[in-house]
Amino acid sequence: MKTAILADLLDFTGDPGLADRQSAHVRWRPAHWLLIDECGRIAAVQPDAPGDDWHKLDHSGQLLMPGFIDTHVHSPQVDVIASWGTELLDWLNTYTFPAEARHADPAVAQTAADLFTDALLAHGSTSAVVFPTVHVTSTEALFGAARQRGMRLIAGKVLMDRHAPDNLRDDVAGAESHCTALIERWHGQGRLAYAVTPRFAATSTDEQLAMAGRLVARHPGVYMQTHVAENRAEVAWIAELFPQARSYLDVYARHGLLNERAVLAHGIWLDAADRQVLADTGAQIAFCPSSNLFLGSGLFGWAQAAAAGVAVSMASDVGGGTSLSMLRTLADAYKVQAMAGQRLTAWALLHAATRGAAQALQLGSEIGTLNPGAMADLCLWDVAVGPVAQRRDALARELHERLFAWVTLGDERNLRTCWVGGVQRYARP
Ligand code: GUN
Ligand code: ZN
Repeated sequence: MKTAILADLLDFTGDPGLADRQSAHVRWRPAHWLLIDECGRIAAVQPDAPGDDWHKLDHSGQLLMPGFIDTHVHSPQVDVIASWGTELLDWLNTYTFPAEARHADPAVAQTAADLFTDALLAHGSTSAVVFPTVHVTSTEALFGAARQRGMRLIAGKVLMDRHAPDNLRDDVAGAESHCTALIERWHGQGRLAYAVTPRFAATSTDEQLAMAGRLVARHPGVYMQTHVAENRAEVAWIAELFPQARSYLDVYARHGLLNERAVLAHGIWLDAADRQVLADTGAQIAFCPSSNLFLGSGLFGWAQAAAAGVAVSMASDVGGGTSLSMLRTLADAYKVQAMAGQRLTAWALLHAATRGAAQALQLGSEIGTLNPGAMADLCLWDVAVGPVAQRRDALARELHERLFAWVTLGDERNLRTCWVGGVQRYARP
């Protein structure tokens, strides 16, 4: 039977900008019905209840939004979330590489993929751009788990052929044939897409980056994901490793890795020329504020990026980040920008985690929106949980104030229900 949900609906019809609390692109439809067709797509949104042929769910007073899109997260790193005392390069060697090595074991990879995809949904993220490990087993397990849950997921085997432990290194020829097979098997299967995934410039040789560029050129429609300019010691190391490149970003540009399907995490230590390259190619920055604070990496300049025309989306970067909750991630983003004197609206934050990310991923008609025809990837939220948030909510005078408090105080405990393609995939116990 077809399902209709009554709730307070929020989504965006355009980019609300960074600081406009009155933006006309905010679409607020309180006490509306959202209708889901038999194919799991949004059929309509209307103020009146539909007829008897619809199964009706009354969630009056709760907030219904498109599911969040986490544009940079590592599935195996749930095992190292909240690891103490290191900056990026030490953190990789001390905690992350040993944990990722365990995913060569198919049983470990399978358990991790199931736990990770369930956890994403339980935090309100229905789509994600994900790094598994260097192992084909872990990539297969991740794609399989996402397919089982009907999720829009973009991922690819991590490429690293140097500066990593023996049990985490691949080589150019082997990686090329594994990637080609994975692309043929998974890219475009249902809601899955492949991303060519050089971990970062330090862990791939020039030859491997060139091979990644060939894969991107040979398979139009695949994505590319990597890290860029996250940490100052990392940036200095890349300059030593690639003396011929103008900048860290230029290493990727030279290998043909930047286009409108490229997702680069962090981008803290970029210059104006880099921002121009990102804007010209359509490559997006996945801003990871929780990770940037936790690892002490630096403060991303969103306003500068936006002024240059760079697309910015939001990402948890677990396990560098300390939560899969996009609400917590957005709250951290607000604080990071406040350090630069920029006050982001709740609209700017929520847009970046929904429609903004979808547009930047070229998926704007499928996800991140409540437009008819989009997939019914939906999350139902309590705006306030617990006495403090409830008190704050009761005192809020207008919508922006209410929802900014939700973003700032909320987390996965505010999530009631999550649907993916119209199928309920999470319900709060
Ligand atoms: N740079 C290279 N690998 C990683 C990773 O796993 N996490 C983060 N935050 N940065 C990286
Ligand atoms: Zn990362």
